[in-house]
Amino acid sequence: LCEQFQEQSLAHLTVTITAGPTREALDPVRYISNHSSGKMGFAIAEAFARLGATVNLVAGPVHLPTPLNVNRIDVVSAIEMEKVALNYAKESQIFVGCAAVADYRAEKIALNKIKKTEKNDELTLRLVKNPDIVANIAALEQKYRPFVVGFAAETEQVAQYAQDKLKRKNLDLICANDVSNGLVFNSEQNELQLFWQGGSLTLPRSDKKYLATQLVFQLIEIYNKNYC
Ligand code: CTP
Ligand code: CA
Repeated sequence: LCEQFQEQSLAHLTVTITAGPTREALDPVRYISNHSSGKMGFAIAEAFARLGATVNLVAGPVHLPTPLNVNRIDVVSAIEMEKVALNYAKESQIFVGCAAVADYRAEKIALNKIKKTEKNDELTLRLVKNPDIVANIAALEQKYRPFVVGFAAETEQVAQYAQDKLKRKNLDLICANDVSNGLVFNSEQNELQLFWQGGSLTLPRSDKKYLATQLVFQLIEIYNKNYC
């Protein structure tokens, strides 16, 4: 498979990828976020760029260097990520939603630091749902809609939940992660189960950079079947 693609340049393709966590402010000094390192998304961006694709990488707050020949756009919140991702996705043939987008954000961001009070031992935060970026890109009208790839981080019933998300979000391909044992977030290694309309396949546990390359090969094969 590798040899088959080494010759094949992806110079005709523009790919937009989201990566890392989002950060949802509560007040000027606090936020809600998650442990996503961004490594998988950055590795996918690097793999596409190596194969000659034009790559936009919409990155949440992460501590990673920008891969060579990748156009990186840094964002903080889900709302910000959605705006940038939608703009780039409309001009892309492929969109990969790898970011761990915070599902909820504070209904109101406090203008000043939230103070601890003497009498209250409890604090209630009101959260509202963030837009589903990958689903909104998959819902774009046909002439703007790229081939859409999602990820699914699951701790149980991995295949079932991933296939539900594939359908519900109208994705072309979903890559499922089993995150039940803490072996993915912040780790160098990962294993992926791929599901699409026409089938499924497992990419065995390996280094995220190697895995990303394998994923890009598979993705292009499925993309070519759909669009060529
Ligand atoms: N995703 C997104 N925007 C969101 C939430 C998720 O684009 N607001 C994308 C992720 O980037 C990923 C896919 O949706 O590609 C699945 O994310 P996941 O968190 O597993 O799914 P959710 O739909 O948020 O469901 P849940 O967290 O309840 O499992
Ligand atoms: Ca989620």
